[in-house]
Amino acid sequence: MTDARVRIDPAFAVGPVDRRLFGSFVEHLGRCVYEGIYEPGHPSADAQGFRRDVLDLVRELGVSTVRYPGGNFVSGYRWEDGVGPVEERPKRLDLAWRATETNEVGLHEFAAWCEAADVELMYAVNLGTRGVAEALDVLEYANVPGGTELSDARRANGREKPFDIRMWCLGNEMDGPWQLGHSTPEEYGRIASQTAKALRQIDKDLELVACGSSGRGMPTFGTWERVVLERCYEDVDYISCHAYYEERDGDLASFLASGVDMDRFIEEVIVTADHVKALKRSDKRIDISFDEWNVWYMGAEEPGTITGDEWPEVQHRLENVYSVADAVVVGGLLISLLRHADRVRSASLAQLVNAIAPIMTAPGGPAWRQTTFFPFALTSHLARGVSLDVRVEVASTSTAVYGDVPLVDVAATYDDGENQAAVFLLNRSLTDPLDVTVEIPASLAGADVEAVTLHDADPKATNTRENPDRVAPASNPTARLDGTSLTLTLPPVSWTAVRLGAR
Ligand code: AHR
Repeated sequence: MTDARVRIDPAFAVGPVDRRLFGSFVEHLGRCVYEGIYEPGHPSADAQGFRRDVLDLVRELGVSTVRYPGGNFVSGYRWEDGVGPVEERPKRLDLAWRATETNEVGLHEFAAWCEAADVELMYAVNLGTRGVAEALDVLEYANVPGGTELSDARRANGREKPFDIRMWCLGNEMDGPWQLGHSTPEEYGRIASQTAKALRQIDKDLELVACGSSGRGMPTFGTWERVVLERCYEDVDYISCHAYYEERDGDLASFLASGVDMDRFIEEVIVTADHVKALKRSDKRIDISFDEWNVWYMGAEEPGTITGDEWPEVQHRLENVYSVADAVVVGGLLISLLRHADRVRSASLAQLVNAIAPIMTAPGGPAWRQTTFFPFALTSHLARGVSLDVRVEVASTSTAVYGDVPLVDVAATYDDGENQAAVFLLNRSLTDPLDVTVEIPASLAGADVEAVTLHDADPKATNTRENPDRVAPASNPTARLDGTSLTLTLPPVSWTAVRLGAR
């Protein structure tokens, strides 16, 4: 008896899996930077003050790119505050998060951290309180080899070689009323076009991201993307998507179907971008940078930590503690991103450390993996080659928010060179295990099979400082390969990764 039949066939490829799908995000927010990646007094700190224990976890997580320095923070940020001698850097009010920014960490420090973490730096410019001139300045400072005032300032500040940042976000969430410099799509489309054209006068090969909507639920969603792209289509390469999900009112069934919303969001942005392409008779294709996504319980600030009338230098913000169910949803969102690998070419799990993050730290103490760490790390390590157009036959389950949705969601990748496949499966049933049969390509008959499942009898179980290893994926002993038929059982509310490799 099988509850679900899945077929994967390398002949049906969606598109290459871009490593940038496994990006993350470090914002000057809460304890993401200070007490997160950077804590000079910590026993594991390196000479520059970066926590080595966090660096180790970032490498284990398999992060490819890291978006920096915001987020909402960037819309009031002066990049030059963060360069030059640290003791001369000004303290500034960070209006986005009602904090005081000390600027101890700026471009040089963060770029050095990226090199230590072996990740690519993706830089966001301030189009909230600033504009074209300051975007040009930071590009000149960062990427021009030398011989100009700003590039020579970089060299004088200790960095001879350019940082060579390739991917640039043109502002952040400019559709959001909370954003400094909140704009209409007409205003933003114009400034994005002017900024992009100007940046390309220095380097035509930069990869540029225009702000899309800060959520599919925004009243201007759809119109925003169309109007912005009508103004900057030929100037940019990507339009961004941001989405955060949470379990509302105890409705776990709808929460487990969050990937359905992400699928619709991606597909709606694709048709909108392609509509503008048609209007412009353009040969160019705009892809998606899904540069903020995660589970986020927005109302869950720790009582007593935010007073609203102080401007602390370090504060606990957005320190969500994630459950097994949250991790299963994160695994499901990764399935959605992989399914659209032809058009989603970059994505950033928001964020990396402490603030809505897979990695948590205690000041002076340990760092540990949240539950959400595991699906991200496994997918990043296993998803190689091309994403496949997976065929699934399975019954539906009904949800209050999304109607009927398939009980099982699946993505798969195939790496021709290594003759290796990976299959990622989500069981949305709240109560029942599901038996799945996956028909795999003949080239993998008799391959080695390794399956790991994230599941717990208590879907609310978490990892904490006191109990950091309470939740972890475990080997799934039901996985069997018979010829080209892989069978396995998925427990309820679970996420599974299977690796099939030639012996
Ligand atoms: O990731 C947290 C915040 O969410 C970011 O600063 C902002 O861009 C979004 O609204």
